[in-house]
Amino acid sequence: MPQKEAPRYAIPAPFPAVDGVDPCCVPTQLLPTGARIPVVGLGTFGSDAVSGAAVAAAVVEAAAVGYRHFDCASVYGNEAQIGYALQAIQAAGVKRDALWITSKLWNDKHAPRDVAASCEQSLRDLQLDYLDLYLVHWPFPNFHPPHCDVTARSPDARPYLHAEYMQTWRAMEELVKRGLVRHIGTSNMTIPKLQLLLRDAAVKPVCNEMELHPHFQQPELFAFVRANGLLPIGYSPLGSPGRPLRDRTADDTVDLDDPVVVAIARRLGLHPATVCLKWAIQRGQVPIPFSVKRANYLANLRATVTPPLTAADMQALAGIDRKCRLIKGQVFLWKAGQSWEDLWDLNGTITPP
Ligand SMILES: NC(=O)c1ccc[n+]([C@@H]2O[C@H](COP(=O)([O-])OP(=O)(O)OC[C@H]3O[C@@H](n4cnc5c(N)ncnc54)[C@H](OP(=O)(O)O)[C@@H]3O)[C@@H](O)[C@H]2O)c1
Repeated sequence: MPQKEAPRYAIPAPFPAVDGVDPCCVPTQLLPTGARIPVVGLGTFGSDAVSGAAVAAAVVEAAAVGYRHFDCASVYGNEAQIGYALQAIQAAGVKRDALWITSKLWNDKHAPRDVAASCEQSLRDLQLDYLDLYLVHWPFPNFHPPHCDVTARSPDARPYLHAEYMQTWRAMEELVKRGLVRHIGTSNMTIPKLQLLLRDAAVKPVCNEMELHPHFQQPELFAFVRANGLLPIGYSPLGSPGRPLRDRTADDTVDLDDPVVVAIARRLGLHPATVCLKWAIQRGQVPIPFSVKRANYLANLRATVTPPLTAADMQALAGIDRKCRLIKGQVFLWKAGQSWEDLWDLNGTITPP
């Protein structure tokens, strides 16, 4: 069999870029282990529209302009390309311990015997000895094929069953003990699910990665996460303008067009995206905006080092929550007659099986 040639990502010259942000100036959030995570990371989900090679090339250039935090996942289908990008970054002189690399366990790998194998595959793909953070991507163990429509339903779909989730979590804890990952965390959890996990975990989650943008502020979950010493990592922080068609509904609102966001942006001479990111950072969450356009991801990182929004701006932005969840998770529904709201435990208790 002919060997496929490994992609090579050119190291941009100069590295670091002259117009970049000094990574030492990017603020960090402190975790209970004493580790520090940069307050902005680069998302790497290409939304089915951006190739793995394009995302990996952006990862290298983003490192040149000062990014050190990258949010990856096996399901994004590009970890192998990103692995070559991470090699290029380290060849350019960035030490492994200056990087923060997150990956995530996909939903069809919740069986305890699959957890270590999945993590080891991500490590091989990313060409790393350890991950800084490994997340359970969703609380539902449910295989569905990549790119499937939101109306697709898996015959194997299962509800959240805490005893099963804890078996997955025990296997996640083992990864920490083995030194394969430095921290573990959750994603797409709700308050009642987190209450059970925090009660039962031997190794506590350090974060919950959750959808957070001005039109979807999740104030109760945000407050719960922070009150319990977890870090809220905010996905789709710009309102995911590039999300796949399958994740769009007629009722969705557009953060970047919100009159309050636009007015603040105009007054300060900023792009509305920068306003969303400044709001996120000042509120205490860690946004992970995706972009493969240099001007955009550079502007997103600069948002960490330029003057903050005023208290009045922050208050005005707090007032524009439209409770508009964009990533509704319909493919996780496990029985007929349910609606996506059932996935999110809106009345404060876990939706029964
Ligand atoms: N844990 C989970 O379940 C979960 C779910 C969803 C997402 N995520 C993570 O969160 C990351 C971000 O979420 P997302 O990709 O859905 O949404 P997002 O970051 O809110 O939006 C990304 C879109 O915004 C555009 N953009 C970025 N910076 C911009 C700027 N400065 N000005 C104008 N447009 C800009 C990008 O286009 P250009 O490339 O053209 O700049 C891209 O189309 C993902 O990549 C992934 O890593 C996690």
